[in-house]
Amino acid sequence: MSEYHIPVLLEESIDGLSLRPNGTYVDVTYGGGGHSRLILERLEGGKLVAFDQDQDALQNLIDDERLIFVAHNFKYIKNFLRYHGFDKVDGILADLGVSSHDFDQPDRGFSFRFDGDLDMRMNQSAEKDAVKVVNEYEVSVLGRIFREFGEVQNWRNLAQTIEQARSNQKIVTISQFLKVIERCVPARVEKKYLAQVFQALRIEVNNEMDALEAFLESSLDLLNPGGRLVVISYHSLEDRMVKNFMRSGRVDGKSEQDFFGHYHLPFEVITRKVLVPGEEEIARNPRARSARLRIAERTEHGRA
Ligand SMILES: C[S@@+](CC[C@H](N)C(=O)[O-])C[C@H]1O[C@@H](n2cnc3c(N)ncnc32)[C@H](O)[C@@H]1O
Repeated sequence: MSEYHIPVLLEESIDGLSLRPNGTYVDVTYGGGGHSRLILERLEGGKLVAFDQDQDALQNLIDDERLIFVAHNFKYIKNFLRYHGFDKVDGILADLGVSSHDFDQPDRGFSFRFDGDLDMRMNQSAEKDAVKVVNEYEVSVLGRIFREFGEVQNWRNLAQTIEQARSNQKIVTISQFLKVIERCVPARVEKKYLAQVFQALRIEVNNEMDALEAFLESSLDLLNPGGRLVVISYHSLEDRMVKNFMRSGRVDGKSEQDFFGHYHLPFEVITRKVLVPGEEEIARNPRARSARLRIAERTEHGRA
């Protein structure tokens, strides 16, 4: 059986947490447990709370009494941590996106390499799947999704093509979808184009940007001063939001001055320049290619 997921920027991200051996840490994207395993190896006492909304991640659970696993969306991080008795933590790691396991499962619908249902849900019990988005969204909303979440150049044409086709027949499989959009796909860059289209749909299906925003906002309240926020992202939308948030304490990047005109930034940015995988890592794991790692440390200041 192929590996569930090869961890990306593993040493760099866990070093970035600057672990205290008895601290409390959170890995909000457990996946195959690659990052969690290294955190546990480096802790002595301490605790690790791990989140994953994908039921398949449960098959990778590490048998360790210091690990608490929460099978839910990380946007609810604050509520679940409180439920487990934690008001504050010493570090939070997020390795965003979809696991290789999901990309490689034809029936999960994430990849245009296979046929299967247009699903794309990370949480298999979620109500919204890609069939719903493709068949039920208004054409203008569909267009906006392709433009904003996929940076698809011909987004308007693509959305209109889909709207026309679905009025004849519901689009439910990947092969059907690919046939419908065939004439929108530019020559020579087919793979890149399809990756953008599939990324856009996936982000919408899983409400990824909303979840990331809610999670980042919560991290502000949850981290002890000196605690680290470590985020690995895989596309520019995510990376921009993370960068803005770490610099200003707000996802829109606009930090606020107090009455005296001072900025009290809630984070000190540790990675002045974003960290990316080296050639050796990319050769070993091509999926690491788009990874971007950012690290920030919580200051003593309150919310911006
Ligand atoms: C890139 S993988 C993480 C891989 C992991 N670091 C490892 O080394 O095995 C991202 C994981 O986060 C999960 N995930 C993504 N968004 C989530 C969310 N909003 N809430 C909970 N889990 C999420 C996905 O299901 C996936 O398993």
